Amino acid sequence: MDINNSQEHVDLIREVFSYNRRFQNALFVLKIDSQIIDHPYFSLLVKDLALLHQNGIKIIIVPGAKDRINEILNRYEIPYHSENGIRISTEESINFIKMAAFDVSNKVMTLLSGSNIPSVIGSWVKARALGVVNGTDYQHTGRVDKIRTDAVETLLNEGHIPIFPCIGWNSNGDPYNISSDELAGMIARKMEASKLFFLSAEDVLTEKSINLPKEISTSDEGRLSKLSISQAEQFISMNSDNPLTGKISMAVEACRAGVDRVHILDGRIEGVVLQEIFSNLGIGTMIYSNIYERIRPMKRQDISSVLSLMKPFINQKILVPRDRNELENTLDDYVVYAMDGIIHGCGGLHLYKDGKAEIAGIAVDNRFVHLKIGRKVVSYLLEIARELNLKEVFVLTTQTSDWFLNMGFTQGRLEDLPAEKREKYNKDRNSRIMIYRTE
Ligand SMILES: CC(C)(COP(=O)(O)OP(=O)(O)OC[C@H]1O[C@@H](n2cnc3c(N)ncnc32)[C@H](O)[C@@H]1OP(=O)(O)O)[C@@H](O)C(=O)NCCC(=O)NCCS
Repeated sequence: MDINNSQEHVDLIREVFSYNRRFQNALFVLKIDSQIIDHPYFSLLVKDLALLHQNGIKIIIVPGAKDRINEILNRYEIPYHSENGIRISTEESINFIKMAAFDVSNKVMTLLSGSNIPSVIGSWVKARALGVVNGTDYQHTGRVDKIRTDAVETLLNEGHIPIFPCIGWNSNGDPYNISSDELAGMIARKMEASKLFFLSAEDVLTEKSINLPKEISTSDEGRLSKLSISQAEQFISMNSDNPLTGKISMAVEACRAGVDRVHILDGRIEGVVLQEIFSNLGIGTMIYSNIYERIRPMKRQDISSVLSLMKPFINQKILVPRDRNELENTLDDYVVYAMDGIIHGCGGLHLYKDGKAEIAGIAVDNRFVHLKIGRKVVSYLLEIARELNLKEVFVLTTQTSDWFLNMGFTQGRLEDLPAEKREKYNKDRNSRIMIYRTE
């Protein structure tokens, strides 16, 4: 066996295991264009989704139905047209549109059943009319009003894959045709998905196919592999004619509303979802929200603010005492969470000789608790530990162990501490030792 090659395999297996742990119970929402559902590789894509599902990832599918709707309307000779890229769903056509939407959903359900994955097609979307816009009456074309997230959550917890046809109903039971891109974005936002995927039959974005904003770099093969929210906005303003611009706008909205990552993929590539997830630079274009945007290294001039942030917790003996001298000596270990120039949170990562590190001095201004600032600071520090290839991170805490447990730490023992720290362990303080394994 080729040794280099086997090392690559081992690395990949490690990555898969760690991914598994990181994304246990995470929710992925996939919008799949109808051309992809008709593509020869679609059954392979469903098998890949089944694999992710069997490994604890929750999945919601939103099948696009555009081509199927056109096909059915053509077959029954129902006239149709669009205004500003939006289909006008007439009284005459809406029942055929509904039929096409459910037909595509059915096809997805059938393939999932072939992989032994239970799925459910449902009516979880309350819709309202798009109405009359600039004099055009869009009739039975609607927008998402509400998603019955509780019902969907129950199904996900029971191991089902919910399939959302692009139809919603108002309180009178009138059906509306809704954009499945918009629907997928809304589901991802309302259900706090970790990832939203748009799979279409469009070529990936490359520097040759787009107007490339200046500061955006591409991958080695010239692909636009990732965009932060602000870069995506630049892209939109410079590429209004690109067929993927609408999806990128949806991606920006979703990221702004809390979805971590949106992946825009060419669904005609075999194994596209797995390749996007398990290769460093992916295979499509990822739009991401930077949850760490407000976190930066602590500067000398921040020390006074950080000390006053810590003071109430030091007084309550929740944090061990720290002074200016100590913070100056460990300046590089600390980060702060700052909003409009004001520091609301802080934390540090101290490195030890034997490849372990300690998270310490986590504090959030009492007026800003419950906003996940503390969690972001800890995740940021864990990310640094991962980048440094540190296997274990520990924290000593007297009153906050449940909070760390919630973030994946486990109870440790004195022996787990690096020798240097063990010797200094304060038996009177009797702190709990919490351990986080980065792999
Ligand atoms: C603990 C602390 C960092 C949390 O900051 P935060 O920004 O509010 O954290 P998050 O928003 O990510 O988490 C808030 C959740 O943690 C819970 N929580 C807060 N303190 C907790 C504790 N001591 N034990 C268990 N859970 C706790 C909250 O009830 C809240 O739960 P909810 O989301 O279900 O409402 C902050 O309260 C703090 O500064 N505490 C004092 C200092 C401290 O304990 N530091 C850690 C020792 S190193």
